Amino acid sequence: STATIRASYALKAQKEASVVQQPQASYKVAVLGAAGGIGQPLALLIKMSPLVSSLHLYDIANVKGVAADLSHCNTPSQVLDFTGADELAQSLKGVDVVVIPAGVPRKPGMTRDDLFNINAGIVKTLIEAVADNCPDAFIHIISNPVNSTVPIAAEVLKQKGVYNPKKLFGVSTLDVVRANTFVAQKKNLKLIDVDVPVVGGHAGITILPLLSKTKPSVSLSDEEVAELTVRIQNAGTEVVEAKAGAGSATLSMAYAAARFVESSLRALDGDSDVYECSYVDSSLTELPFFASRIKIGKEGVEALIPSDLQGLTEYEQKALEALKPELKASIEKGIAFANKQP
Ligand code: NAI
Repeated sequence: STATIRASYALKAQKEASVVQQPQASYKVAVLGAAGGIGQPLALLIKMSPLVSSLHLYDIANVKGVAADLSHCNTPSQVLDFTGADELAQSLKGVDVVVIPAGVPRKPGMTRDDLFNINAGIVKTLIEAVADNCPDAFIHIISNPVNSTVPIAAEVLKQKGVYNPKKLFGVSTLDVVRANTFVAQKKNLKLIDVDVPVVGGHAGITILPLLSKTKPSVSLSDEEVAELTVRIQNAGTEVVEAKAGAGSATLSMAYAAARFVESSLRALDGDSDVYECSYVDSSLTELPFFASRIKIGKEGVEALIPSDLQGLTEYEQKALEALKPELKASIEKGIAFANKQP
């Protein structure tokens, strides 16, 4: 009968629960810009995490409905909404991870740098609140131009005396997600297996997929390398053009950001095998910020992984040198913005 079947399923679930250690939902995550194109699907994906006990959704408008909606999902975390500057501080109290997708996205014809004038100020204001209310949290910056907004965040945190370079992350995960997808498609590989490190920054030519370091190792002709590299660098623009004025990547970005949040939570939870690519304070090159593979631990960045930058192909070495002036200029622009007198 149905009742017997149900009872046997319940018993099976009970047995499994006693054998497999279920992760304890205990972390608080805040999303700033939670009502936006990225914020909403990202909040949904974080709501599905077994590691999250509390999900704080902040935006300047429209966040109440998003929170009410999400709160009906029967997953562990409670969902709280915070609207407007008056509630920003409260949204950050006791939070372990802050994710920032607040700001305007690109329209066709725009570069990420064209967003600077609006988004730089938004990130500055939000980071000031993070510094005042949860200075120990992991900070994930999604708002573009990431190449500049991360240096802005670092400067603001320094001004507030709470900068911890190990806990500030520019989210470049989408570049890795795209690289993995495109390489797997091109070579007919199982998606789950493919891992391409992407280094440099997160805009145009500063995005440098190290295809020679793909795992499992793949053989690519020079033409294939050039074609894949350009596609990965312009993938964001592919989406901007397809959306034709309605914004940039939101769903794949939410997927990528959720993966980075989950990795961070696993690291906080004591998993000692967590690696991601991220744009961070770095000593791997002469630039103060650089995206590379990093090991994440309880205290944030535990190690930068230098080996990806060793033994590069000639193509990669040239591309690395070519991206440095642009990345340097974007970093300096961010630092200058954060330090200019109001
Ligand atoms: P959107 O316009 O759909 O959403 C942005 C949200 O931010 C809106 O809900 C808006 O109300 C909110 N917001 C604006 N000012 C705010 C403030 N002061 N405080 C809190 N929230 C504020 O934009 P979308 O598509 O979600 O993109 C957000 C950002 O993410 C853009 O800067 C975009 O360029 C960037 N992005 C980054 C990617 C990456 O790989 N790192 C990929 C795709 C987008």
